[in-house]
Amino acid sequence: MKFNIFRSHDDRGSGDPTQTPRMGGHVLPAARSDGPDGPTADAVEPTDATAGPALQPRPAEPLGPIKIRARDVSVHYGDKQALHDVSVDIPDKTVTAFIGPSGCGKSTFLRCLNRMNDTIPSARVTGRIEMDGQDVNSKSVDPVLLRAQVGMVFQKPNPFPKSIYENVAYGPRIHGLTTSKADLDGVVEKSLRRAGLWDEVADRLHSPGTGLSGGQQQRLVIARAIAVEPEVILMDEPCSALDPIATAKIEELIDELREQYCIVIVTHSMAQAARVSQRTAFFHMGRLVETGNTEEIFTNPRERRTLDYITGRFG
Ligand SMILES: Nc1ncnc2c1ncn2[C@@H]1O[C@H](COP(=O)(O)OP(=O)(O)O)[C@@H](O)[C@H]1O
Ligand SMILES: [Mg+2]
Repeated sequence: MKFNIFRSHDDRGSGDPTQTPRMGGHVLPAARSDGPDGPTADAVEPTDATAGPALQPRPAEPLGPIKIRARDVSVHYGDKQALHDVSVDIPDKTVTAFIGPSGCGKSTFLRCLNRMNDTIPSARVTGRIEMDGQDVNSKSVDPVLLRAQVGMVFQKPNPFPKSIYENVAYGPRIHGLTTSKADLDGVVEKSLRRAGLWDEVADRLHSPGTGLSGGQQQRLVIARAIAVEPEVILMDEPCSALDPIATAKIEELIDELREQYCIVIVTHSMAQAARVSQRTAFFHMGRLVETGNTEEIFTNPRERRTLDYITGRFG
């Protein structure tokens, strides 16, 4: 099945995307100068050396239907605008990576998706975000339930100061998802298994979650998110505090979870974006510059700024 995804204002060009001239390929795009930092005609010519970074993104794979549709989302903190008119479609059963230099608005946009910006008093969000066609900012949406449905994992693992078992059981209990102790035990085990942690903790479920290693804690909070049967999992630089082995485990897990969830991951590692994602969105200075299949973004981006970032000219 063919989905017409990401046909938002940032997806310039029409018709067959393979016909669109792209940076880094053999055809140069028409010179553009549509912003203060916009690419200009006399910017550096791409050469073979800049034709693409030495990253090997995975080949394009079929994507799920659109899960989240954002239109003209802007965020102000006080009178400072951090995000400008972001429109993007995020497919289900897919990992979408948000990349871009520090401070470009990746976390700010991620927090719009489960209304975490509601918790920041100075933040004001405008525009529309739909999940399965429903306006997440509607008054009828309970942000607490939304955040269960759209789980979030942060850079620093944040287990509750409770046992491993209680960390995972907490959500199902407060949301009344289980009917008996045996039922809850089952959910805890299933969630820990899905997070790839069960074998490591089965014999110490009642030890503190905070006693686990960083990588285990990160899988624990993923198990905690999974336990309430979310549909979307947002991850904000989930591996930046982890060593390479723990990182590899989380990446493997993300790849497995993709079969069932819509996953968005913010990462400052382009290698990680190339490894784990099927879609990539590049942010710069509060704007979404370009979205596309990860393979295209990393080998043949449309926009000069994307090329400059992925080839390490700034960031
Ligand atoms: N709670 C906040 N209050 C005020 N400004 C913020 C807040 N969070 C982020 N910002 C500002 O918004 C911009 C985007 O930040 P952020 O979304 O954290 O970027 P990124 O995740 O891409 O590094 C930055 O200029 C940052 O300083
Ligand atoms: Mg951030």
